[in-house]
Amino acid sequence: MLHSERLFLRPYEIADAKNVLVFRNDPEVRRFLVPGIPYPLSVIEEERWIEGQSKEAECKSFAIILKETGEYIGGCGFNRINWQSRVATIGIFLGQPFWNKGLGTEAVRILIEFAFGELNVNKIKLQVFSFNKRAIRSYEKNGFKIEGVLREEVYRNGQYYDEIVMGLLASEWKDRRSAGETRSV
Ligand SMILES: CC(C)(COP(=O)(O)OP(=O)(O)OC[C@H]1O[C@@H](n2cnc3c(N)ncnc32)[C@H](O)[C@@H]1OP(=O)(O)O)[C@@H](O)C(=O)NCCC(=O)NCCS
Repeated sequence: MLHSERLFLRPYEIADAKNVLVFRNDPEVRRFLVPGIPYPLSVIEEERWIEGQSKEAECKSFAIILKETGEYIGGCGFNRINWQSRVATIGIFLGQPFWNKGLGTEAVRILIEFAFGELNVNKIKLQVFSFNKRAIRSYEKNGFKIEGVLREEVYRNGQYYDEIVMGLLASEWKDRRSAGETRSV
């Protein structure tokens, strides 16, 4: 089981679908997520998505569980892994009640440790909307650097916004580890 001080990451189960909907259908969460996810999301759509996950090899999505209460608090995972270049693309969301407590940074740290330590990935990347300052700060706390800006890539609330590409190299994580910067984030 993947875990950290406060969190477990475990595979999704069908029983999670109802909890996922509560967060995914929250407009405040949805505004930060990529277009293409059905909205509003139905239980059937979510259950189908969870079923599909069990057929994936290592491009896994994980339910994020709070150790203390056993609660489902969000999801994260590898959206894509390019095995030739060893680049993994990650994604994450938490329900609103769990924002700003360091939990997102902690969950991403579990993915980082797994990707670099077990999957032999060389680089982790992600894309984030320019107005998502909380997420950008959270990724920076784990050492992600801004690599580029996709101009006016996303349309939200009647306006175009830039999308920011961020990346973290295995060598950078190793250096942060040696400097003791990966323990508490
Ligand atoms: C993005 C997300 C995973 C981050 O997880 P989190 O647990 O909330 O983040 P953390 O508490 O670890 O860190 C947030 C940091 O952003 C800071 N922050 C919060 N709001 C901010 C704002 N408006 N501007 C700048 N910084 C902000 C916090 O102070 C904290 O930094 P600090 O520890 O230096 O004080 C979570 O907020 C989330 O799921 N949001 C909705 C969905 C989403 O945006 N997903 C990512 C899509 S790319």
